[in-house]
Amino acid sequence: MAAVSSPTLILSLSLMTILISQAHSLNCTSQKFTSNKLYENCTDLPSLASYLHWTYHPANSTLSIAFLAPPAHSDGWIAWAINPTGTGMVGAQSLIAFKDSNGSMSVKTYNISSYSSIVQSKILYDVLDSSAENSGGLMRIFAMLALPKNMTELNQVWQVGSSVTKGMPNKHEFQLANLMAKGKLELTKAQVNGTTAPAPGPSVTAPTSPAPSGGDSGADKDDAYLKRNKYI
Ligand SMILES: *[C@@H]1O[C@H](CO)[C@@H](O)[C@H](O)[C@H]1NC(C)=O
Ligand SMILES: *[C@@H]1O[C@H](CO)[C@@H](O)[C@H](O)[C@H]1NC(C)=O
Ligand SMILES: *[C@@H]1O[C@H](CO)[C@@H](O)[C@H](O)[C@H]1NC(C)=O
Ligand SMILES: *[C@@H]1O[C@H](CO)[C@@H](O)[C@H](O)[C@H]1NC(C)=O
Ligand SMILES: *[C@@H]1O[C@H](CO)[C@@H](O)[C@H](O)[C@H]1NC(C)=O
Ligand SMILES: *[C@@H]1O[C@H](CO)[C@@H](O)[C@H](O)[C@H]1NC(C)=O
Ligand SMILES: *[C@@H]1O[C@H](CO)[C@@H](O)[C@H](O)[C@H]1NC(C)=O
Repeated sequence: MAAVSSPTLILSLSLMTILISQAHSLNCTSQKFTSNKLYENCTDLPSLASYLHWTYHPANSTLSIAFLAPPAHSDGWIAWAINPTGTGMVGAQSLIAFKDSNGSMSVKTYNISSYSSIVQSKILYDVLDSSAENSGGLMRIFAMLALPKNMTELNQVWQVGSSVTKGMPNKHEFQLANLMAKGKLELTKAQVNGTTAPAPGPSVTAPTSPAPSGGDSGADKDDAYLKRNKYI
């Protein structure tokens, strides 16, 4: 009997599942926080059913954020990052939240220099404050970051994963929704109708600045990763 499983078919089916599960996305303006946290702005992020609430203070260039996402599994993790050198995961200055071994939520910082290993370390930006919550199927990262003066926009990257081993978040999936989880965040420009609309594709969100030395932009590296692993 001929084998019916084709990698292309399996990929198409899983992409359809993602598109369907994303169709019910809520609206960030109706999300409220406990503990009196208030943010001036919010965005329904275009992938992974995630939301960003933020307040930017130009006077002292601090950015307060609340990032909300459903982890890929209840024992998983969520991450939000600023990438100062590219648009993808490589170079991302990341905040990752997950359940510690004692069951309480924690936020740790990771300077992600490659796909192969991520190491907890300081990041480029001072994290003045951070905490995390987990309830109702969503994990939430709250943080205040000190940004360089006069920044007007940044490349944000977000992600969700399904497991953590000995305090180390394990690799996330590389489905389309995971790869689309990046875009620009305009810190100062007024929004149109309550949502900024980060473009969904790497080609539109590619940085206008030159790629970091080494030549590869994060987006190129994402593509290379996919090809190597035969996702495309
Ligand atoms: C989001 O929700 C708010 C309040 O529930 C509503 O006023 C607004 O029109 C909604 N916006 C969109 C884009 O659906
Ligand atoms: C930055 O400025 C805002 C608004 O003036 C203020 O509320 C906030 O506490 C300041 N943050 C720091 C870390 O000084
Ligand atoms: C859980 O462990 C972390 C360190 O891994 C610690 O900071 C935190 O206070 C602990 N929480 C509780 C409730 O014990
Ligand atoms: C992050 O890692 C890269 C590559 O190892 C390194 O060049 C950079 O200085 C690190 N950044 C910080 C803030 O530690
Ligand atoms: C930020 O912009 C203001 C006004 O344009 C300027 O006076 C100031 O020097 C800039 N600061 C930095 C660190 O570039
Ligand atoms: C954030 O909200 C403030 C106050 O509502 C508004 O003036 C500002 O334009 C918004 N910023 C962005 C980037 O949407
Ligand atoms: C914003 O909303 C208004 C009223 O609903 C609509 O007429 C306008 O086309 C919208 N603008 C964009 C850029 O979606």
